Amino acid sequence: MKCNIAVIKGDGIGPEVVTQAMKVLDAIGKKFGHEFVYEQLLMGGCSIDACGEPLTDEAVARAKAADAVLLGSIGGNTSTSPWYKLPPNKRPEAGLLKIRKELGLFANLRPANLYEQLKGACPLKEEIADRGFDMMIMRELTGGLYFGARETKEVDGVMTAVDTLTYNENEIRRIAIKGFDIAMKRRKKVTSVDKANVLDSSRLWRKVVEEVAKDYPEVTYEHMLVDNCAMQLVKDPAQFDVVLTENMFGDILSDEASMITGSIGMLASASLNETKFGMYEPSGGSAPDIAGQDKANPIATILSAAMMLRYTFDLDKEADAIEAAVKQVLVDNYRTCDIMSDGMTLVGCSKMGDLIIERI
Ligand code: IPM
Ligand code: MG
Repeated sequence: MKCNIAVIKGDGIGPEVVTQAMKVLDAIGKKFGHEFVYEQLLMGGCSIDACGEPLTDEAVARAKAADAVLLGSIGGNTSTSPWYKLPPNKRPEAGLLKIRKELGLFANLRPANLYEQLKGACPLKEEIADRGFDMMIMRELTGGLYFGARETKEVDGVMTAVDTLTYNENEIRRIAIKGFDIAMKRRKKVTSVDKANVLDSSRLWRKVVEEVAKDYPEVTYEHMLVDNCAMQLVKDPAQFDVVLTENMFGDILSDEASMITGSIGMLASASLNETKFGMYEPSGGSAPDIAGQDKANPIATILSAAMMLRYTFDLDKEADAIEAAVKQVLVDNYRTCDIMSDGMTLVGCSKMGDLIIERI
């Protein structure tokens, strides 16, 4: 199979982790007889430096023409980087929001599971970590507060800022359907998270989710308020299978879920539209403090490449091979510094990529 991939290495640790994921894809291509063709595009700070804007329309058009996008990370140090002296719509993050919207990537899948070998890195109490967990945060990605009207102005001599949280029923329905579809392939449980005791948008969310649930009699579903969910994630994460929620709640809860896995450097993500097209990226940020030092953990990006094989190209066997190789590397006691513990072998970003390839 020939797979056309738009590669956006981005800023910070992006280039080094994406390079490892490309190496791994090439090894998969060799073993299973596929051809991965890459086209590199700019987004984020590097695009601001080269083109004067965080994402050009030309780059969007090229990304659209590919089968999938593999992304590293964007942005720099928000207090020292000159990019953050620019107005908000010119900063690196604006490129990320633009590509999500332009490509219609409304469904963001962020799996969070605890590897047996990393239980020691889990910050939760031992008895909670021992039970393990394996959840999929399904975050709506192109609506809500991120894309509603906003402005800052003086009202009666007082500076006032407003952001709007809008959802229509169609936006809710399509992400709910994706959530239930994915639950059908997992443990068949959906926890829909909202703030229906306060927000109108959440009351509509709840109503639409209830309608969608009727089409999935095999799936158990429940509603949970977002504040309670934040608490349950650290109290009893094993209860969750699919966590379905709107954009801003999903942003916050997915960071919380990632932390209890031991390291955000382990977490992959996929952003999908209605077709097979997807954008795949590690859940973590650009980590400018360790960029260019061969210290970053490439596993999240490598696992994101596995998600690409699974969701865009239907190459399940190949995705399994990557996931098994990652597990084996952990079993063999190799660790990057973010997941290092006593008795393990510390390796850098590039070496970690090599070790995973050896096991493929
Ligand atoms: C994420 C990030 C982004 C978001 C930022 C960089 C705009 O935190 O992907 O979770 O808030 O969506
Ligand atoms: Mg976030």
